[in-house]
Amino acid sequence: MRPEVRTPLPGPKAKAMLERGERVLSPSYVRPYPFVPARGEGAFLEDVDGNVFLDFMAGIAVNTTGYAHPKVLEAVRAQAERFAHVCFSDFTHDPTLTLAERLSGKLGGRYRVFFGNSGTEGIEAAIKLVRHHTGRPYLLAFTGAFHGRSLGALSLTASQSKYRKGFAPLLPGVVHLPFPNPFRPPLGARPEEVGEAVLAHLEHLFRTVLPPEEVAALFLEPIQGEGGYVVPPPGFIPKLKALLERHGILLVADEVQTGAGRTGRFFALEHEGVEADIYVLAKGLASGYPLSAVLFREELGSWRPGAHGTTFGGQAVSAAAALATLDLLEGGLMENAARVGAFLLGELRALQARFPFLGDVRGRGLMIGLDFGSPKEERPDLRDKAVELAFHKGLLLLPAGPSALRIAPPLVLKEEEAAMGLEILEAVFRAL
Ligand SMILES: Cc1ncc(COP(=O)(O)O)c(C=O)c1O
Repeated sequence: MRPEVRTPLPGPKAKAMLERGERVLSPSYVRPYPFVPARGEGAFLEDVDGNVFLDFMAGIAVNTTGYAHPKVLEAVRAQAERFAHVCFSDFTHDPTLTLAERLSGKLGGRYRVFFGNSGTEGIEAAIKLVRHHTGRPYLLAFTGAFHGRSLGALSLTASQSKYRKGFAPLLPGVVHLPFPNPFRPPLGARPEEVGEAVLAHLEHLFRTVLPPEEVAALFLEPIQGEGGYVVPPPGFIPKLKALLERHGILLVADEVQTGAGRTGRFFALEHEGVEADIYVLAKGLASGYPLSAVLFREELGSWRPGAHGTTFGGQAVSAAAALATLDLLEGGLMENAARVGAFLLGELRALQARFPFLGDVRGRGLMIGLDFGSPKEERPDLRDKAVELAFHKGLLLLPAGPSALRIAPPLVLKEEEAAMGLEILEAVFRAL
């Protein structure tokens, strides 16, 4: 397949549906551009007017195996014929039990699993678990972080104040640290010392306002997602983990966006040589079927039956999709993400040398951010224009953070498809 835009966008059918949506849908939905999908195959999506797009956003980093992967379809169909839902909170069943074993097996079988439906629900469970287990009231998170939008998760989210506006009061006791962004360092630090500066800031908080023995956990995205696809500096996460350990503070890895192979490893934390106390997975785990998994160290499992639960979490069709997704990830998709991601990163860095408004190109595997502007100047105008121009040329992208765009294709993306996307990006950059 190739991207092919045959009608001016939005085409007539898309336009009619968008107008219907304006009359009935919640105004809180965002529509970055007028795309109305009809069907997908592999890394391509066709809209309702028959235009074909190459997908570099995967439904916000969800569709690990692309669209309509035969192995996922087969697993979903077979499970739907048996049963979709009985309620895993009340009754043990497969394929969910096997999925729990497979996920725990990825961490040496030392972790227990709680299933939910969404990333937010996973984070919410993690908040409850760390409070319940430690009895400590405070939580730490980073500015720029996105952890979800229920009132607990939203209390951690700090990527844009518009997400919080109008919803206060949120959870008390949440303290935010600046994220060590090497491209736009906080705390007046130089890029090469930003990690140390953030750690010194945390120690300062511990000395002055935040008794560390009252902090339950720190929530960390190994690569900030919604905040701009920001990779922390090398060595930061291991040092942070050591500091937390000294105070008995748990590390919760929010791998909702980074996990399930997107960075070329199953957990992005594997790149850092660090183990978290709790991992939260969602988005890519079940190739588009709703599912989250909270994996927590066995020793943390002090909560008793009924302390937490959910009707749909671990629903059998989603679990079947997740098992098929795991088979495919282990059968080559993770290597593909690493290889095609390295190719894309290299080519994008070559483009950066020709287009100076591309201030930073960063990422791991198929989680790549392009930041527009310079350390001193954010250029959301150029970023937004790039997203719009790419759409009209048949490439689907999404913004992230103040001035970045994210490249998060399905992990089935082939190198020749990545090259098609690069061709469109180059044309977009020339037009800018
Ligand atoms: C890192 C991270 N955590 C949590 C969430 C919330 O997940 P969901 O939208 O599935 O509730 C997201 C969603 O973008 C995310 O990127």
